[in-house]
Amino acid sequence: MKICVIGTGYVGLVTGVCLADFGLDVVCVDKDSAKIALLNSGCTPICEPRLDDIIGRNMEAGRLSFTVEVKKAVQEASVIFVAVGTPSDDDGSANLKDIEKVAEEIAAYMNGHKVVVIKSTVPMGTVRRIGRIIHMNNTTHSFDIVSNPEFLREGSAVYDFMHPDKVVIGADSESAIAVMKEIYRPLYLIETPFIITTIETAETIKYACNCFLATKITYINEMANLCEMVGADIHSVAKAMGLDKRIGPKFLHPGPGYGGSCLPKDTYALRSFVMGKGYDFKILNAVIEANEHQVDVMVEKARRALKDFEGKTIGVLGLSFKQNTDDIRESPAVKIITLFVKHGAKVRCFDPLAMDNVKKVLPDIIYCKDEYETAQGCDALVVATEWNQFRNLDLEKIKELLESPILLDLRNLYDPTKVRKLGFTYDSVGRH
Ligand code: UDX
Repeated sequence: MKICVIGTGYVGLVTGVCLADFGLDVVCVDKDSAKIALLNSGCTPICEPRLDDIIGRNMEAGRLSFTVEVKKAVQEASVIFVAVGTPSDDDGSANLKDIEKVAEEIAAYMNGHKVVVIKSTVPMGTVRRIGRIIHMNNTTHSFDIVSNPEFLREGSAVYDFMHPDKVVIGADSESAIAVMKEIYRPLYLIETPFIITTIETAETIKYACNCFLATKITYINEMANLCEMVGADIHSVAKAMGLDKRIGPKFLHPGPGYGGSCLPKDTYALRSFVMGKGYDFKILNAVIEANEHQVDVMVEKARRALKDFEGKTIGVLGLSFKQNTDDIRESPAVKIITLFVKHGAKVRCFDPLAMDNVKKVLPDIIYCKDEYETAQGCDALVVATEWNQFRNLDLEKIKELLESPILLDLRNLYDPTKVRKLGFTYDSVGRH
């Protein structure tokens, strides 16, 4: 079976590469010729554990190739995965221009029966509409349309693809379902649950999962804010909650709010979608509002510690939206820095991977070579992203470098008692 994956962003690249590793013949297509040239030279445009190895191995075995030629790729494949971006528009709705254009291209080049699989996250009803676009532009050849959403986390996308909690397949056609089962056969062998359902249900599952995860994080963040008011400890609260099997322990870590390329985008897109339907999804609106407010709560902590921002210098450790990535999309760290600067503070910062990306949006802050250079002369040091290397700082040295020993630990990496014993004014999230 020959597979074509259109779009070599995060989802498309990981999908194509991992399907090749399942032993399938895969060609990945992208209109970005620089990216394709990079991939053909054996380099990867994203930092993702194991991806380089798997690309190298499968290219060598002749199962994986990269091209800009959509026509040839579509014509030679029997199954076409579509994984182009669906970014947020200004009103929060998913921008479907690219995916619609790809549908027209597929229609123009189809030369026989194809199974078209939509991996991009799209609002309910879009997959069928993509089917209609293909049909309107090509009435000669038959095709099946399938919704097959992804649930990959950045930083463990390859592992997640190979060991998913579930595979969701939404389709009308029995033969398309059989093709999808064949593609994912290695996952059947490790007893992965398969949800075979309608197209609309598959599309809804994706939003249901991500918006629930956003809700869970927001809930623990609000609970952390409450813990601060009553003198309770959020980690004991989260642990006890997590022991209730109906709740589960994951995604109960408090912090500055969720960020990244998925949870914010998907919550905005669902809100915009339901508004269009005239439905007031109250909990979703509250989650979005509370997550945005969590950044202000973090900035307020700094204001409390510093009294005033004007003329102060703040060191910020961590810029990416979470550890082990250079991705700064919707990063709480970047939002917090923007507010520090707006309120008149100077910012020095460090991140192991994300500094080049932040330089493009915040060129006027000071970028440092490490944690210690960042702390030099600062009135406070803020840990904004949970990189492992920030967990074991030489705090004695940090204290000497700081103008005043204030540590704001927005990811709860340190033990409050120990840090205070060293003479720091210390604050974290949901603890005393
Ligand atoms: C997420 C989903 O996990 C994945 O299933 C989906 O397909 C894409 O979106 P990702 O964006 O890579 O993946 O990051 P994830 O590890 O889920 O974290 C999302 C955000 O939530 C990060 O900003 C993280 O710091 C935050 N988070 C996560 C918390 O604040 N607390 C937690 O307990 C967990």
